[in-house]
Amino acid sequence: MALDERPFSATMPLTRRRWLAAAGVSLAAFALPRRGAAQTDGFRVLRAGTGMARLRGAGEAPTPIWAYDGQSPGPTLRVRQGEEVKVRLVNDLKQPTVIHWHGLRLPNAMDGVPHLTQMPVEPGQSFDYRFVAPDAGTFWYHSHFLSSEQVARGLYGVLIVDEREAVEVDRDVVLVVSDWRLANDGAIHPSFGNMHDAAMAGRIGQYITLNSEDFLSLPVRTNERIRLRLINAANARIFQLRIDRHVARIMAADGQPCPPMLAPNGLLRLAPGNRVDLFLDAPLAPGSKAAILVDDLRGSELEIGQIVYDPGPPLRAAALPEPKPLPDNPLPAKLDLGQAYRLDVPLDGGGMRMMMGGGMGGTGFRGQGIPAQQRIWALAGLSSSGHDGPPLFSVARGRTVALSLPNRSMFPHAMHVHGHHFRQLDSSGWKPYWLDTVIVDPERTERIAFVADNPGKWMIHCHMLEHQEAGMAAWFEVA
Ligand code: C2O
Ligand code: CU
Repeated sequence: MALDERPFSATMPLTRRRWLAAAGVSLAAFALPRRGAAQTDGFRVLRAGTGMARLRGAGEAPTPIWAYDGQSPGPTLRVRQGEEVKVRLVNDLKQPTVIHWHGLRLPNAMDGVPHLTQMPVEPGQSFDYRFVAPDAGTFWYHSHFLSSEQVARGLYGVLIVDEREAVEVDRDVVLVVSDWRLANDGAIHPSFGNMHDAAMAGRIGQYITLNSEDFLSLPVRTNERIRLRLINAANARIFQLRIDRHVARIMAADGQPCPPMLAPNGLLRLAPGNRVDLFLDAPLAPGSKAAILVDDLRGSELEIGQIVYDPGPPLRAAALPEPKPLPDNPLPAKLDLGQAYRLDVPLDGGGMRMMMGGGMGGTGFRGQGIPAQQRIWALAGLSSSGHDGPPLFSVARGRTVALSLPNRSMFPHAMHVHGHHFRQLDSSGWKPYWLDTVIVDPERTERIAFVADNPGKWMIHCHMLEHQEAGMAAWFEVA
């Protein structure tokens, strides 16, 4: 707790970056296995346990982590659209856990929310997740039990649902961006559950990695088209990412196809939980290198990896023509805003507000039995774990829900809705894509709407996991 007084990003040294020779990097490192090896009753066994990761590079001591099948990101799971995902979670940890399938429009009983949709899976126990993947796209799975610690220690992985017909790309590459707060010896810093993180920006780590590598080199060939699947798995950090001298053509957001669009100034702003699929056409000359950059939260950029062009001849004579959009997923055809159930869900609380005397005003806290200091954030006036207490709202199946999310705090939030994708309204109308997690900046209001077509009890919460744990969570019911 000695470290709680100071924001980590301002006081800890940034990781030293190394340049890897392109020659040493094999393409196989990026190949995605189609299926896991271990099979039981057709279930892919996934063990939550411990592992090691070289987060600080090959020359430094590795970090003991928590991981699925010993690795973080966990194994990339892959199914075709309409096929079943069958995963047997085996808990080799010393504490309970569960898996949440982030962004999947799945049956409620498979959503992996402790006490809301299932009981926690105790140490030594297992749980079978089995559901049809309705949408093609880039999804991820992560612990939803004490997730502020379990995710920070590495319990997450990627789930790819392939389109029914092959998409015209040369290669498919997963890039999980995350940050890690490490102690001097390289261990995961044990500063979990502290007030400073909960009340401020959440647990921000001082090491930023791509696929848990200190500095990732992505080999490409000139005029190759790569589908880059970017996932932000960090606890709390919003990444603003760009690839130098490359056009970022966004093909899908949060797993759902969108009209192809270019990222403004090439900048991709991803909150925890957000995904984006890019088609990256490699236009540079053989032998070129281009930096993969993120903002460092202080106005400069940090190089966290690079695109390394093969020195050999181009893959093809010219770049491919502009891509067609990805095929549509079976999302609800339209929002019925005229008949919508409307609700204001203010985002309240946090440290700076209280220090500035804003306080929590008349927001009735109901954090019974939970230390008051752990419940410092609220949704619509209620501070909740997201499964205790009454629902935020209940609607009949098929009803359109329109939520207004005014952020009355000093920090951005990443509001995530389970089991549904939503549209976002801005000053120029409804944005042309679907999201499951939306950034709400301080002093701003985001308006979202979705068709509540998936029956069950669903969470809505901030995906800054310390905020979630400290009260910025609720649930709603679709009956
Ligand atoms: Cu990705 Cu409720 O979380
Ligand atoms: Cu938040």
